[in-house]
Amino acid sequence: MSEPLKATQISEHVYWVGAVDWAIRDFHGYKTSQGTSYNAYLVMADKITLIDSVKAPFMGELMSRIASVADPAKIEYIVSNHSEMDHSGCLPTLIHKLKPEKLFASKMGAKALNQHFGISDIEAVDNGQTLSLGNMNLTFTETRMLHWPDSMFSYLAEDELLFSQDAFGMHLASSKRFDDEVGDWEAEAAKYYANILMPFSPMVTALLAKVAEMNLPMKIIAPDHGPVFRKDLEKIVALYGKWARQEPTNKAVVVFDTMWRSTAKMASVICEGLSAGGAETKMLPLGASHRSDVASEILDAGALLVGSPTMNNQIFPTVADVMTYLKGLKPKNLLGASFGSYGWSGESVKQINEYLDAMKIEKVCDGLRVQYVPTADDLHNCYELGLEVAKRLKDFS
Ligand code: FEO
Repeated sequence: MSEPLKATQISEHVYWVGAVDWAIRDFHGYKTSQGTSYNAYLVMADKITLIDSVKAPFMGELMSRIASVADPAKIEYIVSNHSEMDHSGCLPTLIHKLKPEKLFASKMGAKALNQHFGISDIEAVDNGQTLSLGNMNLTFTETRMLHWPDSMFSYLAEDELLFSQDAFGMHLASSKRFDDEVGDWEAEAAKYYANILMPFSPMVTALLAKVAEMNLPMKIIAPDHGPVFRKDLEKIVALYGKWARQEPTNKAVVVFDTMWRSTAKMASVICEGLSAGGAETKMLPLGASHRSDVASEILDAGALLVGSPTMNNQIFPTVADVMTYLKGLKPKNLLGASFGSYGWSGESVKQINEYLDAMKIEKVCDGLRVQYVPTADDLHNCYELGLEVAKRLKDFS
């Protein structure tokens, strides 16, 4: 028996028919503390059209919501704006059951769907192409690498509605569907940007300029995760512009792990120096901080200070994890510094410096190394490092 779940109307002709995943806490390495939603949309045009779908285990939820407004067998078109499996996982079953007349995707989307699922009967659409749904029109804009090569926007002119797939989305499960109903969404949107879109910031800037040039009337932005924007469209677009620029503030993020609290002591005193120097300081001990929260804090930071003990000639595993993750996210406009304690070899600072160099982060110094336990002199040096970074950050305050 299908689940008695209902669609939500989001514009004159469009219904949200997605699924809410209240339980998910790990999304390919991103900690989704508030769950997420997989948003799919039904356009009630002459040609009834489904925009994106949901993760495979949620197909029953999708079908129930569709059935609350239309006979699913009457869906003629399916558009895949993004082929990642949270939006395409149920497509093979859906196509088998509904037998739609056509499935549309970008050229890269057609390739990805074929490689993931063996789906070959796909009509690849061009950038700027308009598809007639009978009484309505859907226009496609490629958004390559935002955040996969296949990604594209679809714009429904009649409802002044942009289907933006992952862009402008956030991992936020809610029984509410709209931005003005879910409370303060900005932190989750920033976390999503930092963890998913930050590496592609130059492309975000270019896309925002292109969309501004197109000057499309827009009443609704309907992303593939989180709330539908009907109130704060300008705000989320402006935030994307700001996040893409990664303008630094006078915030210093201190990320570290520790074995016997020596590196922790160094971190504490560095923080004292940072605060005394006027920097906003965020301590993130990795025993209590997830890599995706570190990424969120980096988004508007001006400095990243990283501490690790040396263990078996190596950087501590949790620090290696977060530095590998951050390196992939390509944060910009950061000052950096390294520190850490060691017993007899002490490679961690050098290894952190290699990460900082690879990330093109400007190092304030060569790093602070302390054998076994920091002495009073060592702690004084830590304090001075904090002061120095704070002084350099003053330009950003
Ligand atoms: Fe929500 Fe890139 O998938």
